[in-house]
Amino acid sequence: MTRRLRTDFRGQYGPWAIVAGASAGLGAAFAEQIAAQGLNLLLLARGRDLLQQVGARLAATYGVQVRTLSLDLGRDDATARVVAAAEGLDIGLLVYNAAFSAIGPFLDRPLADHLREIATNCRTPLGLAYTFGQSMRQRGRGGIILMSSLSASQGSALIANYAATKAYNLLLAEGLWEELRGAGVDVLACRAGAVSTPNYLQSLARAGRPAVSPPAGAMPAAAVVAATLAGLGQAGSLIPGFSNQAAAFVLGRVLPRGLAIRLMGGVLRRLYADDAQAHS
Ligand SMILES: NC(=O)c1ccc[n+]([C@@H]2O[C@H](COP(=O)([O-])OP(=O)(O)OC[C@H]3O[C@@H](n4cnc5c(N)ncnc54)[C@H](OP(=O)(O)O)[C@@H]3O)[C@@H](O)[C@H]2O)c1
Repeated sequence: MTRRLRTDFRGQYGPWAIVAGASAGLGAAFAEQIAAQGLNLLLLARGRDLLQQVGARLAATYGVQVRTLSLDLGRDDATARVVAAAEGLDIGLLVYNAAFSAIGPFLDRPLADHLREIATNCRTPLGLAYTFGQSMRQRGRGGIILMSSLSASQGSALIANYAATKAYNLLLAEGLWEELRGAGVDVLACRAGAVSTPNYLQSLARAGRPAVSPPAGAMPAAAVVAATLAGLGQAGSLIPGFSNQAAAFVLGRVLPRGLAIRLMGGVLRRLYADDAQAHS
């Protein structure tokens, strides 16, 4: 069933939204669809030029105000720097989309990569959800979206720590959904399956996969974002796409957990075989 955006989207989640990881892929699609609802944007990513191009295009197309901040969201002071950039803005929506994924055998990657995953994927979304959640609760409305993944459903070989960070986002969002919905703040985790984004295509190319675009089974970013924005306020988490919902049902509810983990390990070994060899 296709859900529509709530009609008072801007009233509930405006006037300003933060999109973390907004210059490409899912983040750029979030920024576009949120701008289309008339919300002003504070856009974050590391690469300044692309971010500014995206911002300028959205401002011109949708007539909204756009600010950009170029920073690495894995930095220790990332939360403080975003809060400083948002000073004076009435933030009603936070979308934390940026992530770092260290693909390959866990023990063959530097520990620093795994710590960077925790910083980018867990510490900064925690800091931003905590800080902007306070002001949203005070004003009695707002929304927080955290990007999780189907890989959050069970242990996943070759992306063990990444999947664990995505499980953190899933459980944080679901817990906050229950805790804050009485205060008018909607929190949602998006458990996306494969999505056709530049980042996903690059990870396939690194693993020697043919450059088929869109890759088989991957959803378009715009469809994932549309489902996510429409689902905000409906539940604590959602899985976009029927085939992803079916896969999650089989892996999570039908198969014994050990078998689901081994099955997923086989899929990921086939998908990232060359990446795995590169790090072994
Ligand atoms: N694509 C998929 O198949 C898939 C599936 C399930 C879940 N997800 C989740 O969906 C989200 C988006 O994924 P994606 O594939 O669109 O690509 P992504 O590379 O995770 O995100 C792309 C955006 O985030 C920015 N970004 C990345 N690292 C950053 C950092 N350290 N600091 C600031 N900005 C950063 C990138 O710009 P810069 O590089 O310029 O910083 C770009 O704007 C992630 O949370 C991912 O875990 C994706």
